[in-house]
Amino acid sequence: MRRLVPALLALAVSLPLAALPVAAQTKPVLAATPPMGWNSWNWFAGKVTQDDVKAAADLIVSSGMRDAGYVYVNIDDTWEGKRDASGVLHTNEKFPDMKGLADYVHSKGLKLGIYSGPGDLTCAKFEASLGHEQQDADLYASWGIDYLKYDLCGFRKKMDADAPGDKLKQNQMMRDAYAKMHAALVKTGRPIVYSLCQYGWDSVWQWGAEVGGNLWRTTDDVKENFPSIALIANSNIGLGKYAGPGHWNDPDMLEVGNGKLTLDENRTHMGMWAMLAAPLLAGNNLTKLTPEVTGVLTNREVIAIDQDTLGREAERVYQEGPVQIWSRPLADGGVAYAIINFGEDQTFLRGIGLHLKEAGVKPGMKARDVWGAKDLGSIKDDYKVTLKRHEMLLVRFSK
Ligand code: GLA
Repeated sequence: MRRLVPALLALAVSLPLAALPVAAQTKPVLAATPPMGWNSWNWFAGKVTQDDVKAAADLIVSSGMRDAGYVYVNIDDTWEGKRDASGVLHTNEKFPDMKGLADYVHSKGLKLGIYSGPGDLTCAKFEASLGHEQQDADLYASWGIDYLKYDLCGFRKKMDADAPGDKLKQNQMMRDAYAKMHAALVKTGRPIVYSLCQYGWDSVWQWGAEVGGNLWRTTDDVKENFPSIALIANSNIGLGKYAGPGHWNDPDMLEVGNGKLTLDENRTHMGMWAMLAAPLLAGNNLTKLTPEVTGVLTNREVIAIDQDTLGREAERVYQEGPVQIWSRPLADGGVAYAIINFGEDQTFLRGIGLHLKEAGVKPGMKARDVWGAKDLGSIKDDYKVTLKRHEMLLVRFSK
């Protein structure tokens, strides 16, 4: 055996690349890092039109968002029309030419996403995919769709009708419905990112990857206010171990730039989503982008934490009152570290300390304040921090 190993090695080295076994030429993982893009729902809701989506694609390019990594342009609910006699789904009058739209979006170096659900109707009561899964998947592929958000809503009616009061059976129906659309997408042969949207029911993080999900919503819908963002961040405690390359927890789309969120709140929202290795789907009105909002959305150092190739989501390592500390290990051996004041008052952290050891920070690592774009050198637990209400200190520690 000892002699055989060097002999085999020598043989392997002398082989031309094409002779490598097929298994060694692995296919790229879909959503190897959390998907990034924009989605129509948070801002346009049911009013979105084809022209809005085109304009969003243009603005993603001109604002620098595309070059920062935002590539999926996702149409949410309300694009759907009616089925014809052969069951083929048509778009409604707001989306006269989906193939043309896909071509346009692709010509900008972007990808197009679409929305449906396993029920007869979507959440907004438009036509969904029940009984037409393969037909719809084939249609998406023929248009050139790259991403599908599949929303439970209408299927709940069927769950109640077919298995009244039987939660276990209903849960199984839900899993089967998601697996069915996944199989249909695979059969098209087109790589289509598959986003499960069922609000975290039945602890979806435990089975989302098994039914083919590249991401799954962990909670109910995000709203454009800080309590909603804080609630979602807290609902994701303990879920980090279920996420990884190709399969992500989705704490819902970004509200950065929406409502009355302050700069600190926008940064905490974006920074917390980056810590959570969350899909970054901007949900704001891109025609009204301010330099401040663009700055938050396109901060390269924050995005680098979100997109870190190790794909390890942050976990909460410490809490005291409204103050929380989260950390995640990074591919380069460093650590992303966040300390957040979810409370309403300014907080001085001298008494609390940074809890660097619990956060996995090794002595001597160099700290960089990410939002402040400032090197801090080697900081210790007694480093003095003051956080305003809803403010975060986001630090990248490097070896
Ligand atoms: C649900 C989803 C939202 C959005 C709407 C559309 O509420 O959770 O993200 O897709 O449906 O109707």
